[in-house]
Amino acid sequence: MPNRYLIANWKMNIPPEGIVTYLDAVKDANAVIAPPFVYLKDVAARFANISAQNCADQKAGAFTGEVSADMLRDCGARFVIIGHSERRTIYGEDDGLIARKLEMVIDAGLTPILCIGENEQQRERGHAVEFCSDQLCAAAIPQLANANEIVVAYEPIWAIGTGRNATGAMVAEIVGAIRDALERFWPDGLASRTSILYGGSVTPDNVDDLIADGRIDGFLVGGASLDSKRFLALAEAMKRLPAQP
Ligand code: 13P
Repeated sequence: MPNRYLIANWKMNIPPEGIVTYLDAVKDANAVIAPPFVYLKDVAARFANISAQNCADQKAGAFTGEVSADMLRDCGARFVIIGHSERRTIYGEDDGLIARKLEMVIDAGLTPILCIGENEQQRERGHAVEFCSDQLCAAAIPQLANANEIVVAYEPIWAIGTGRNATGAMVAEIVGAIRDALERFWPDGLASRTSILYGGSVTPDNVDDLIADGRIDGFLVGGASLDSKRFLALAEAMKRLPAQP
């Protein structure tokens, strides 16, 4: 059965209330926090489940400015976000690079949070399912067989930071398609253990629509994760997810 996760992706921000105040406020939330690299150790000292937001596609060597998955593990990270659309669109990361990063994260014994999702044009043309399936197919590397766990985050690009969230019905459709693609392309048994999260303008106001159908395993949250009160409200909403079969 997939684990359920609520993940705070701070992106290149720190909570306006300050890291210590924020972490004190959310200390009992069953959540994962993904701060910028340089705060990983500080956050890890106060909070159990920590994720990095990115990693290098190489183990070590002359790669100025990069940080390896092994180094992130040494800093206390248990998870690494891979292939976020901001990495894909702003920094030009393609499926090949993301597949290599996935391999590094698995080799380091960490759990990858692999982000996928279509842009507005692809959705309007009715290609969302096909595009997300292709992204999962491109991530079907042999090392997946060694992974204890993988998290897939469906984050449609048109919903990130826009205030326009996908509807519960859209999310339900894509989650079904993601599970089908995982069964087809990924090693046996991994699909049923893979958590599928939704991300894109999730707030305490829209979260109940997104959880209603019960197919989602949690959320990857940007903007609303920067305020401890809003993030705690999302942690409470996670408790309203229907019981797993
Ligand atoms: P927002 O919640 O700000 O739309 O960001 C979503 C996201 O990109 C999380 O990784």
